[in-house]
Amino acid sequence: MCGIVGYIGKASAPSILISGLKRLEYRGYDSAGMAVIEDGKVVITKAPGKVAALNERARNEWPASRFTDSRAGIAHTRWATHGPPTEANAHPHADQSGGIALVHNGIIENYRPLRTRLEAKGHLFLSETDTEVLSHLVGDCYQGDLFQAVCDALHQVEGTFGIAVISATEPGRIITARRGSPIVIGVGDGESIIASDASAIISHTRQVIYLEDNDIAIVTADHVEIRDLNRVPVTREVAELGFDAEAAEKGGFEHFMLKEIHEQPDALRNAIRGRLDFNLGTSVLSGMGTSPRDLAEVQRVILLGCGTSLHAGLVGEYAFEDLADTHAEVHQAAEFRYRNPLVNRSDLVVAISQSGETADTLAAVREANQKGAFVMGLCNVVGSTIARETGRGVYLHAGPEISVASTKAFTCQVAVLLMMALKLGRGRRFSRDEGMRLAREIEAIPTLVEQVVAQSDAISRIAKSYADNEHAFFIGRGYLYPVALEGALKLKEISYIHAEGYHAAELKHGPIALLVDGTPVIALANDVPGKDKTLGNVEECRARGARILGIITSGDHEAAAAMDDVIEVPACHPLVATIPTAVALQLLAYHIARHRGCEIDQPRNLAKSVTVE
Ligand code: AGP
Repeated sequence: MCGIVGYIGKASAPSILISGLKRLEYRGYDSAGMAVIEDGKVVITKAPGKVAALNERARNEWPASRFTDSRAGIAHTRWATHGPPTEANAHPHADQSGGIALVHNGIIENYRPLRTRLEAKGHLFLSETDTEVLSHLVGDCYQGDLFQAVCDALHQVEGTFGIAVISATEPGRIITARRGSPIVIGVGDGESIIASDASAIISHTRQVIYLEDNDIAIVTADHVEIRDLNRVPVTREVAELGFDAEAAEKGGFEHFMLKEIHEQPDALRNAIRGRLDFNLGTSVLSGMGTSPRDLAEVQRVILLGCGTSLHAGLVGEYAFEDLADTHAEVHQAAEFRYRNPLVNRSDLVVAISQSGETADTLAAVREANQKGAFVMGLCNVVGSTIARETGRGVYLHAGPEISVASTKAFTCQVAVLLMMALKLGRGRRFSRDEGMRLAREIEAIPTLVEQVVAQSDAISRIAKSYADNEHAFFIGRGYLYPVALEGALKLKEISYIHAEGYHAAELKHGPIALLVDGTPVIALANDVPGKDKTLGNVEECRARGARILGIITSGDHEAAAAMDDVIEVPACHPLVATIPTAVALQLLAYHIARHRGCEIDQPRNLAKSVTVE
């Protein structure tokens, strides 16, 4: 997610803006910028990369007086969604006149028609972003009152925003507004701080005002006036920040991993938003750059990845075969690059990578390119190496994933793979009605995940009684087999318990020799095809003394009776069930690790992105 800081008061605005952006660095970003008002002008500086790069550029290029004399400004760290992380695409963005600057979190969904209309009026755009369209729209609406101009512009906008806007002609105030992207205003002594979250404010004041959707505020050094977008005054209470800066960075959660688990409903909404076509019963994945005719040429889908991304690929393999009637196969990326794989020009190769920087996956992409395949990326980081080298694909839009253990990236990867399979399948096998039915199932995923995330405290209570084990087995079959592997990976990498995932039928071919009294077996026994066989495998484990924790479909009393403990997930399409089930296992792993006092966000020996072989 991007970060916003605004300041107006008696101190040096550039210094406070930079220190505020540093407090937001944890949110992940790829470029940064700031704008201040000086002598009737708006001055902007931006830099790709770290906040330190922005600070260095400002210190080198701006006169010292600007640091001492500027009393108002806005700043931004960007997590690219529209357009790669370049200086031109970094915020703040100016309007056509250059006298207004704006920073923005969120997505302007109707930015293309707005841009076309503004271009017809002679506006020239310097970036590829939706945000620059908004800054030009504010400028186009400006008739001497920035508040009125912002109101009029926002009435034309569809989508989400958290914004801060300054004007050279109105140096004594900042206009800020929100719809769907948080804005908090710190009320200080002769100064006001605007930010996208409290971590940038807490070192100045604990008195804060949280804007609500469709609030717009006129912020001066001494006063905050809030109205709705129809300019009707509204009252918002001044709240007391209850946590320290470190806690604020995690949005009040104890760990980034827990924050990112809880973010999944929104992350999935972002991954799905605008990508389901209920008229044609298909998905709209323009980044793939493929026509239906291109896809008709695809004879096989090859999925590449490592770790959690490999597990998402395993789900994708089932989806492409069962939904799109297309042969699919998954390869561990490191293995693919060295085995001299058989690759044809009719192969669609999908490289799955949250970071877009995993060395083995990047090397596999290059190998597939060498063999003339049709290669695309499924990444979360916009402008990452894999995204650039494949040149086409689908971004997750899951927001930055800070915790080393991947959670929201996995569920968003699976959701996007389901949409890719829907798109391919609709061109081959699905009727419009069948496509629409699956599209509805995909659309419901965020709500299903909300029901699981709501059980976090109950899962913590269950997890406590499993926290003292040193071994654990995860078993599943069908679409849930990859989820068993993923659940085992989550547990082992953050709790250091030796956890293994197996196909439910595989245990009796050897691993069952390891079962002794009390060995935990986590059985994925959702009410989907294969459940009865899995319940049989559960009995085989129980006969050897194992303690069984079942992930079952809500209300399935038969499955519940077979278990020692249960975590219930909502009923849904068997392929969709992989996602709420994975979330249940994420919470189980998290709470077991927390009960064991583990570090969780940065586990020993691990890195967030494995950029070496
Ligand atoms: C997942 O929890 C791990 N952190 C790890 O397996 C990760 O999924 C793997 O390194 C691949 O990373 P990528 O998705 O960024 O390519």
